[in-house]
Amino acid sequence: MLVHVNGRLVEEAEARVSVFDRGFLFGDGIFESMRAVSGSVFRLEPHLGRLRNSASIIGLTLPSPPRAIGVAVRETLARNGLRDARVRVTVTRGPGRPGEYVEAPGPSTMVIAASPFTGLDPAFYEKGVEAAIPRRRQVPREALDPAIKSISRLSAVLARREARDRGAFEAILLDGEGNLTEGTASNLFLVQGGTLLTPPAPQEGLPGVTREAVIGLAREAGLPVAERRLPEGALASAEEAFLTNTSWEVLPVTRVNGRAVGQGRPGRVTALLLDRYRDLVRRECGRG
Ligand SMILES: Cc1ncc(COP(=O)(O)O)c(C=O)c1O
Repeated sequence: MLVHVNGRLVEEAEARVSVFDRGFLFGDGIFESMRAVSGSVFRLEPHLGRLRNSASIIGLTLPSPPRAIGVAVRETLARNGLRDARVRVTVTRGPGRPGEYVEAPGPSTMVIAASPFTGLDPAFYEKGVEAAIPRRRQVPREALDPAIKSISRLSAVLARREARDRGAFEAILLDGEGNLTEGTASNLFLVQGGTLLTPPAPQEGLPGVTREAVIGLAREAGLPVAERRLPEGALASAEEAFLTNTSWEVLPVTRVNGRAVGQGRPGRVTALLLDRYRDLVRRECGRG
């Protein structure tokens, strides 16, 4: 695969950034993961808007305007002959030095890498997945604004490891007050009394592009949607739960911490939204 590194497409084996890059030294950077279907990137503009917002919050200068980054994303896909793909854009504050937390801004580093899209095993959608609520909480928003799609992912990695050790696929993180926030790489939805509930973003989690699309689809389908704080106990009274992100789409969660959610199988609302979401992606990306 060809990888876009600081404006040049190079063979993956030749793709390099400095060992002193601030992304490597400090996790000082941001990213976006997108999906291309039939050669078009689903909701490219919102992804680029979120990248610009992440950059602005952390005071990072993007190496080029978002529109030019969009062109580079398309070029990376086209030159690799990829039509159904995952694309990751990573931007860091560029080369640095160990121990120098703050320094004069240099050129940022940007890497755009694409790979064929391989969705989850269909059995995950038929049976649903198990999630765990790990002991490790979400990084407090006072420390790291959840609106930043940051490459500093250590707390997410550790939470996911804990979930995996308990046989779960994803970790659902609580905030300091014990409210449900989001997954380590996904947004959380519950269905309760026929209403779709999700914690508010960006207060409690990343404003997911999939989340936004699913909220729109639910409203179109006439489902009431409430974005509000949800205590951990809301899971026990939920009829359904699901997670959303660019690659998992709408993924049913049928068990949390070993306990069934609702009937312990993917629910009707989840199935409807998964169906409509897949249809939306196909329509927007020009296939059907
Ligand atoms: C912490 C977190 N929340 C939510 C999401 C879902 O975002 P999106 O739907 O834009 O993929 C992600 C995506 O990776 C994430 O990392």
